[in-house]
Amino acid sequence: MRFFIDTANVEEIRKANDMGVICGVTTNPSLIAKEGRDFNEVIKEITSIVDGPISGEVKATTTDAEGMIAEGREIAKIHPNMVVKIPMTAEGLKAVKVLSTEGVKTNVTLIFTANQALLAARAGASYVSPFLGRLDDISVVGAELVEEIVEMFAVSGIETQVIAASIRNPIHVTECALAGADIATVPYKVIEQMTHHPLTDAGIEKFQADYKKVFGE
Ligand code: E4P
Repeated sequence: MRFFIDTANVEEIRKANDMGVICGVTTNPSLIAKEGRDFNEVIKEITSIVDGPISGEVKATTTDAEGMIAEGREIAKIHPNMVVKIPMTAEGLKAVKVLSTEGVKTNVTLIFTANQALLAARAGASYVSPFLGRLDDISVVGAELVEEIVEMFAVSGIETQVIAASIRNPIHVTECALAGADIATVPYKVIEQMTHHPLTDAGIEKFQADYKKVFGE
């Protein structure tokens, strides 16, 4: 399983990229709004930091296929690494069909059932994004959805990649990796949490203390 970072904050993207752990970025309208910056400006900056797939979503207020297609074409023009993120609706699927035929990569987002993922894949999506955390929030085990989609795609020989999204904690990451997700898109906070273990931190302190006792600073 590979990692993307799920943020539009360029400082977080730089930090994760410098660690060498991410190979792509996902954004969404809420994450872009949180930064309060112009969409094109922030996306361009992200493409200059990470050399890998960058998902930019069509405007939250665009709900018709024609509108999504027009916006998707503009997003794709920003950089060759751009992936157009499209919500899982019937209109969204129409847009995916047209954009994928034109060679534009798409990521169908807000996937909450395996059947939605199957439809998105058949419409031509390059990626599907099942949302784990939001399912857990309503007492449905999100990791089981990822497992189901991975299995369904394998049975049908579908090459669309599964991006486990709405990751809220390190346990989600382990679950998605074991479920066979191709990618997990992870907030910076979770990447940071994953680097730690109390015994690692205690071990570093002990090594430092022992070394200093004999050799000084
Ligand atoms: C996925 O691409 C979305 O940007 C994201 O993972 C949503 O996460 P949330 O449910 O924590 O908002």
